[in-house]
Amino acid sequence: MLFDTHAHYDAEQFDSDRRQVLDALPGAGVSLALNPGCDLPSSRAAVALAEQYEFLYAAVGYHPENCAPYVPEDLEVLRELAGHPKVAAVGEIGLDYYWEENPPKELQQRVFRDQLALAAELALPVIVHDREAHGDSLAIIREFPSVRGVFHCFSGSAEMARELVKLGWMVSFTGVLTYKNARKAVEAAQAVPLDRVMIETDSPYMAPVPHRGKRNDSRYVGLICEKLAEIKGVSFEECARATMGNGRRFFGIGPG
Ligand code: NI
Repeated sequence: MLFDTHAHYDAEQFDSDRRQVLDALPGAGVSLALNPGCDLPSSRAAVALAEQYEFLYAAVGYHPENCAPYVPEDLEVLRELAGHPKVAAVGEIGLDYYWEENPPKELQQRVFRDQLALAAELALPVIVHDREAHGDSLAIIREFPSVRGVFHCFSGSAEMARELVKLGWMVSFTGVLTYKNARKAVEAAQAVPLDRVMIETDSPYMAPVPHRGKRNDSRYVGLICEKLAEIKGVSFEECARATMGNGRRFFGIGPG
């Protein structure tokens, strides 16, 4: 059985058939999934979905792309949502310097720091989104040595992956691993020990080959497990078992 540690089922791409897609997951070998929030409404939606599906967990937080409306009082809302028993992390939070129209770097950094402080206070792990902001992301997480997290949809170098492992962090890979031009992600996956890696679809985005470009959902997480197993030189079953165990341990989700 597989754990898709990052899927956005509150996204509008699932509005027409969300229930059918989610109902089909346990029968398709996906026994756990985690839905991170991207702002307050989507964090609330993630928690509401997690209440409806036993296998679904939630994270709550402000994604850097969506942090323009952030006010410090929002931390109170996140703190309250984080008290829900199905909320396993603060996320996704981080920095995204890729899009020019994104909120200013200074605001992104403030919102990132505020949420890392919240995670430290609540003793929750964090899910970090880092796009074209590797240096600043690493520098800021180092300011919070008591916080552990995962860099999701990892896009850094093998050297950065080793650095994260040294800090006690996890590294998570998407369908990007299956893409033709994935040399950098493959090298990073090679650098991360099997007990520190997680897999995720990042649905509805990032569909693995042969579904690239189409809407993604957790049923395709097996294709990512297959590719990671190949990279690590282990069987599919061993890779599934390791990534399941890592995810459960990291998010504090006990068996059954
Ligand atoms: Ni995401």
